Amino acid sequence: MNYELITTRIEGDKVAVITLNRPKQLNALNDALMDELGDALKHFDANANIGCMVITGSEKAFAAGADIGAMANYSFVDVYKSDYISRNWETIRSVRKPVIAAVSGFALGGGCELAMMCDFIIAADNARFGQPEIKIGVIPGAGGTQRLPRAISKSKAMDMALTGRMMDAAEAERAGLVSRVVPLANLMEETLAAALMIASYSQLATMAAKESVNRAFESSLSDGVMFERRLFHALFATTDQKEGMDAFVNKRPARFSNL
Ligand code: CAA
Repeated sequence: MNYELITTRIEGDKVAVITLNRPKQLNALNDALMDELGDALKHFDANANIGCMVITGSEKAFAAGADIGAMANYSFVDVYKSDYISRNWETIRSVRKPVIAAVSGFALGGGCELAMMCDFIIAADNARFGQPEIKIGVIPGAGGTQRLPRAISKSKAMDMALTGRMMDAAEAERAGLVSRVVPLANLMEETLAAALMIASYSQLATMAAKESVNRAFESSLSDGVMFERRLFHALFATTDQKEGMDAFVNKRPARFSNL
């Protein structure tokens, strides 16, 4: 795959790493980059060998937001007609395999929103998160006002969206925005270990787990629990359930076939 604004690589046969690659612009997210990211995500999601994806940036910036220079002269007609943001940023929501954000440096505006669209965030200790759109006369436009309160409470989300301040990695972990904080030097090693572990399991089970956790944000508790229960029941129809449980009972490693 030939991309200009991202790079991709495969780790351990089963993990795809996508690196945002506009370092001089702190990985500001323009339309072309989001097209490439969406294309790569769809490609890896369709690749039967890949069990988990990682999105990362540079040490200084995961992404400093949507590209302000590109947006500055957009009119309402431009953004409405082209379905700005919805057109290509939302691709990540249709990815069925797990996606981890490995965040170092700035994750601001659309960068924070992109990280939140991933299934979970592993942060380096130099990570800084924020929704500073208020400072440039707008509001978060890629889900920040919706995903932040679900992740970190209304009060903290309001604080972030209204003041535009940044939170450091320790605060982000306390608030529940990130699943873990690791030393910057270990970010990729720890993220790849998690991704390889996920990719070693049955893809049927990891996709079902992702689908079920995401349902929690779209349904009542009883509807969500019923959705989970039916997926749990359905997994008993898979070869991988038989293999996983037989391997446990017979004290041997499981060999999943994704069937
Ligand atoms: N868009 C376009 N270019 C950006 C950018 C962005 N979001 N963020 C940084 N850059 C560019 C800078 O313009 C600069 O380019 P030049 O070298 O050509 O001048 C380069 O990246 C380096 O940036 P700085 O010199 O500013 O670096 P710094 O270390 O002094 O500051 C920073 C870093 C605090 C992240 C600062 O760059 C900054 O505040 N960036 C903007 C953050 C922001 O407002 N993000 C929200 C964007 S709106 C949005 O995302 C909408 C949405 O919800 C979808």
